[in-house]
Amino acid sequence: MRNLIDFDQMTLEEWYRLYDLAKDIMGDPAKYMKSCEDKLVATLFYEPSTRTQFSFQAAALRLGAKVIGFSGTAGSSVTKGENLKDTVRTVASYSDLIVMRNPSEGAACAASLYARVPIVNAGDGGHLHPTQTLTDLTTLTALKGGVSGHTVGFCGDLKNGRTVHSLIKALVRFPGNAFVLISTSGLRIPDYVRKVLEASGAPHREENSLEAAIGELDVLYMTRIQKERFESEEAYKKEAGVYILDAKKLALAKADLVVLHPLPKVDEITDEADEDPRCHYFDQTEFGMYIRMALLHTLLKEGKEARQPAWPRPNTDKICGNPRCITRTESYLPKLGEGGRCLYCDHALI
Ligand code: NCD
Repeated sequence: MRNLIDFDQMTLEEWYRLYDLAKDIMGDPAKYMKSCEDKLVATLFYEPSTRTQFSFQAAALRLGAKVIGFSGTAGSSVTKGENLKDTVRTVASYSDLIVMRNPSEGAACAASLYARVPIVNAGDGGHLHPTQTLTDLTTLTALKGGVSGHTVGFCGDLKNGRTVHSLIKALVRFPGNAFVLISTSGLRIPDYVRKVLEASGAPHREENSLEAAIGELDVLYMTRIQKERFESEEAYKKEAGVYILDAKKLALAKADLVVLHPLPKVDEITDEADEDPRCHYFDQTEFGMYIRMALLHTLLKEGKEARQPAWPRPNTDKICGNPRCITRTESYLPKLGEGGRCLYCDHALI
């Protein structure tokens, strides 16, 4: 493994190895305190973040690595109009690994073409968020003994929620999972995620009532309506407040339901429901730091030696149909597609 753009680049063996390493770190963090002391990690956050950014920084520091970076582009040359490839090439020459969050979909993939060091995708617009997926899989493994054989409900903004897209793509790779996708008709999963579900053969259905579905779930993944991805305040308001998890709905759920949420939450879980022992999102945040320690440790040790991918040749004349795709703003990027799909952001080429 050289980069982590999405979980599907990782074999399941690599995932189990990563989980075992995280477990070992949790058991004896002191053993790893200096393991990366000769390394420097850069965190480039073009979009706001609390958990992801701090957990990566905490993870790097707890391995003994040093950290540089920006949080919001205000103090960087991005405000002078520098493009992504120049920023990435520059930062790669100072650091051993780059963690990047960017509002454009496919930005992490684009960055990986220009960086001499491993790129970790910490969220690319409404597309993917693989390290949240590592966090979610770690939490489920620790709390439920594994990530197979569960009926998993996803509720809220399934269109723009990148954590949802990455987690569905990961969970279909494990046997016996079934999916209930709970959203309004305006916030259903994007086509590329639906295609992954269909191709996997995993049982799945779309549903608009949380109340109707909650009783059958082993895992409920609540999400925030992603206000920043809406075209207007008005459009957001139409969707806000539709799904609220409260004590009444939790009373209909299984005794061993696990409620997860990538956080931040706004109003989709009431204060009363928040105190229910089945809600595990703060365990999730802690597990997130340990699995990120395992990821950084692995990539910092192996990533640089790993063979550089061959420079991809432009292989399509078509353009990506997604207006939020990185190829729409960074015009130097090679045009890359496969089977009618944009290789940066997964949306259909037109
Ligand atoms: C999520 C994100 O940024 O995609 N948060 C996170 O990284 N833990 C979820 C969100 O913003 O709603």
